[in-house]
Amino acid sequence: MTTTRESSYYGAGEHPHPENELNRLRIQATASWPKEARVMREWGLRPDADVLEIGSGPGFITELLLQEVPQGSLTSLELEEHQIAEAKAYLGDYDENRLRFVQGSVLEQPLPDGSFDVAHARFLLQHVPEPVAALREMHRVLRPGGQVVIADVDDHLWGTVHPAPRLPVIDQVIQMRIDLQAQRGGDRLIGRKIPQMLLAAGFERIRVEAVAVSSDEIGMAMLDPQLNIRSRYAMMVALNPAAEDAVRELADAVDEFLASPLSSAMLLVFMYSGEKPR
Ligand SMILES: C[S@@+](CC[C@H](N)C(=O)[O-])C[C@H]1O[C@@H](n2cnc3c(N)ncnc32)[C@H](O)[C@@H]1O
Repeated sequence: MTTTRESSYYGAGEHPHPENELNRLRIQATASWPKEARVMREWGLRPDADVLEIGSGPGFITELLLQEVPQGSLTSLELEEHQIAEAKAYLGDYDENRLRFVQGSVLEQPLPDGSFDVAHARFLLQHVPEPVAALREMHRVLRPGGQVVIADVDDHLWGTVHPAPRLPVIDQVIQMRIDLQAQRGGDRLIGRKIPQMLLAAGFERIRVEAVAVSSDEIGMAMLDPQLNIRSRYAMMVALNPAAEDAVRELADAVDEFLASPLSSAMLLVFMYSGEKPR
C-alpha cells in the first residue's frame, strides 16, 4: 500500500485513549533514559553541544536531553502542533535561549545547513515513510564531524517475557501491529536496517548498541504501560474489528502474567550513531 502520510504515528484525536499513550511515553522515557544517556556520553555527547531533537512529542525526552547539554542548546523539531503544545505545557517556564520548538517534518526540515553538533531521533524513524530521505536531511543540518543518534525498535527482537506463555496469539498480534504500521507508511522491523540506511545517507563510523529495559532492574510497574494491551491495540481493533478476539486473548494472557510475582520482562531498545564526514 502506498501512502502520502509523513508519519505512521497517531495524529491528533486518533488514539482512543490519549492519556494512556501520554503516560506510556512518559514512563518509557524514564525507564531507559539513564542507559541511553550513558551511551550518548560514551559516543561523545559534550555538555556544550547544539542538539537537534526530531520527533520530540510531548517533551519528556526534551527535558532529559536539555539536562545533558547544560552549556549547549536544544532545538526540538516536531510534526504535530498538538505535541508541541503538550511539550510546552509539560516543560512550563523553560529558558528560550537554550530551547526552541520548531514545527515541521524530518523530511523537509525548516532549518539551515550545517547548524547542529548532534541530531537525535528517538522512536521516530519507524514512523517515517522515507527513512533514508529523513537521514539525509539530518545529515544536511549537521556540521561536518556532527553526529546522528537514533533510538528505535525491531519487532522481531522486541524482548522476552518469563515464564513465556506458549500462545500463537503473541506472534499473531505482533505481526498485526507490524502490518498496521506498514500500511500507515511505517516500519516496525527498521532496527536491522538502520546501519545500512545511515551509510546510504552519507554517514560513516557507524556504531550500534542494545539497551535492555528489565523489570528485574527497574520494577514491573515501569513496563506496565508497554504491556497495556487493551490500550495499545485499541486503534488496531477500531480499524479492524476482526483483530478483536486475538487482542482480547493476548490481553487476558498478559493480565495473568502480570498477576504473578515471579514474572519478569525485558524489552530492547537499539541505538545507532554515525558521523557526517569532516
Ligand atoms: C513515538 S513518538 C516519540 C516521542 C519522543 N521522541 C520520545 O521518545 O518519547 C514519535 C513522535 O514523532 C513525531 N513525528 C512523526 N513523524 C514525524 C515527522 N515526519 N517529522 C517530525 N516529527 C514526526 C510524532 O508526531 C511523535 O510526536
